[in-house]
Amino acid sequence: MDFVEQLKSAVDIVSVVGEYVRLRKSSAYRYTGLCPFHNEKTPSFSVNVSRQFYYCFGCHATGDMLKFVQEIEHVSFYEALKSLSERYGVPMPKRTQYADEDTRRRAALFQMHELAQENFRAHLNGAAGETARAYLSSRGVSPDTIEQFGLGFAERSGRALVRLLEQRGFAPELIEESGLAGKRADGSFYDKFRNRLMFPIHNEKGKIIAFGGRALSAEDQPKYLNSPETPIYRKREVLYNLHRAKDAIRKEDRSILVEGYMDAIGVTAAGFASVVASCGTALTTQQVQTLKRHSQHIVVNFDPDAAGGGGAERSLDVLLAEGMFVKIMELDGGLDPDEYCKQRGADGYAGRLEIAKNYFYWLADRARAKHDVRTPEGVVAVLKALLPAVQRVSDRLERMAIAGNLADYIGVERGVVLESFRKAVADRQEKSIERPKETVRADERGLLHALFSGAPGREELIAGLEAVEILDRIATRRIFQAIRALQGSGAEVTFDAVNARLEESDQVLLAETLLSEDAESQEANPEYGRQCLESLRRSEEQMRRADLKTQVKQAERAGNLAEALRLSEELMRLERRGAAGA
Ligand code: UTP
Ligand code: MN
Repeated sequence: MDFVEQLKSAVDIVSVVGEYVRLRKSSAYRYTGLCPFHNEKTPSFSVNVSRQFYYCFGCHATGDMLKFVQEIEHVSFYEALKSLSERYGVPMPKRTQYADEDTRRRAALFQMHELAQENFRAHLNGAAGETARAYLSSRGVSPDTIEQFGLGFAERSGRALVRLLEQRGFAPELIEESGLAGKRADGSFYDKFRNRLMFPIHNEKGKIIAFGGRALSAEDQPKYLNSPETPIYRKREVLYNLHRAKDAIRKEDRSILVEGYMDAIGVTAAGFASVVASCGTALTTQQVQTLKRHSQHIVVNFDPDAAGGGGAERSLDVLLAEGMFVKIMELDGGLDPDEYCKQRGADGYAGRLEIAKNYFYWLADRARAKHDVRTPEGVVAVLKALLPAVQRVSDRLERMAIAGNLADYIGVERGVVLESFRKAVADRQEKSIERPKETVRADERGLLHALFSGAPGREELIAGLEAVEILDRIATRRIFQAIRALQGSGAEVTFDAVNARLEESDQVLLAETLLSEDAESQEANPEYGRQCLESLRRSEEQMRRADLKTQVKQAERAGNLAEALRLSEELMRLERRGAAGA
């Protein structure tokens, strides 16, 4: 057995996918959840337990656990293999044929970040870190929290890290690419982070991929210096603290979004584990999609200042576009989340979290502050401000409920709000992406189920396929061709082997067919496959009889009686055989 097979037989795809997607068991063979690869509100993503693959009825994404890891983490086949082998303790053979140049380079970058992290932490604990330690303590960051978040200190000399990386033999190209060093005109390197408090930034799996460095004095600009984009750090996809927060986000079915590293740390230290931060850039679609895999509910808790408010509005657009359920949490006293937790305690913060408002009320509040709703013009202006958000609500009932509540909230008649909503939604054009498809018959579906279920009698079924011509005409014909070809070559007919021989559109068809519930319920019944094959054979005969009948008529009409006679004899033979078989 090669390593890929060995890994796949040792690891369950449900637990692999389950690390990224909230899955619900929907039958003995299947789990379902929201698709991580496209935007949806009702789950159309399935994981099939018996054949260990996933399929989305919405976007048709499909594959095995390795494909899943590749797609969700944007990594190569080799990296997916390696990551699963590490996570599930299936040791990978030392010399492996899968590693490529790109993968080796990324591995080196990860190592350099590990080294940098050790270095920064050592400096924070050492003599040079005294000011940084004092600063942290003045802001109420406990030693445990420093440890938990892996905070460190980049000392001021300017070559400590570069020297270490050079000593360890990392090539100049790699040092440059790591983003940890700057390059002088003479080609020599210097540390990019100097005299800064260091915040390691992790990917979803918990590997360090970048750093944020905070200045320790106000003169030192910029306040935060961040790693540039590198092959292992794509800013737009990363959320600070997600690897620590994700379990809590799933458990509580809600994430909290803050703006700053210090906010994420302070809020976590106060006992709210499901918090992530957006790393200083505007929230992106990729970040939201990442969050959505863990929960569709989010509480946005940005800074109270004007910039914070504007940021929240922009983020709201992105969140709503991705179908998230959004609440906005506002803190009083002009405090940011970190300060709020320090000054008002965990209870204070919990209280604000509790009363976080649906984003509609928050938008209404903002609009109401600008317009006078006691005048008709004011009402119109407020409604207008809300319409873009309304257009995003795709569910009609939900829209009506919102309209009702909003009307009460701004003190106008429900009819007025409803009417303006109705118009806004009618303006929105919805594109449908339906396309016609060949239908899969119940018996072909059942036969495929039986073939891949490992039920007794499977061998006979496969052997029985040979004589059945109708298999070349039905929607799943290319799947049956692949099965026959495998059988012919003497290889074992497994789901993976068949799937590997199919074009993508047929992989999708197979996945869809195997996930259908009616056939699934019959799975344990060994007779079922035989019955389906029989049913296919019978319709093949019917088809042939119908063909013959038309041919007889044509021959008669053409006056070719000999031919007509020959054909009717054949037809009678067929009918007798059919009757005997029935
Ligand atoms: P803040 O200025 O609110 O920082 O910026 P903070 O995390 O609350 O830190 P303290 O409390 O002032 O120490 C919010 C986030 O914006 C990004 C950082 O990610 C920061 O955490 N930022 C800010 C930068 O990237 N560069 C900057 O110069 C400033
Ligand atoms: Mn702050």
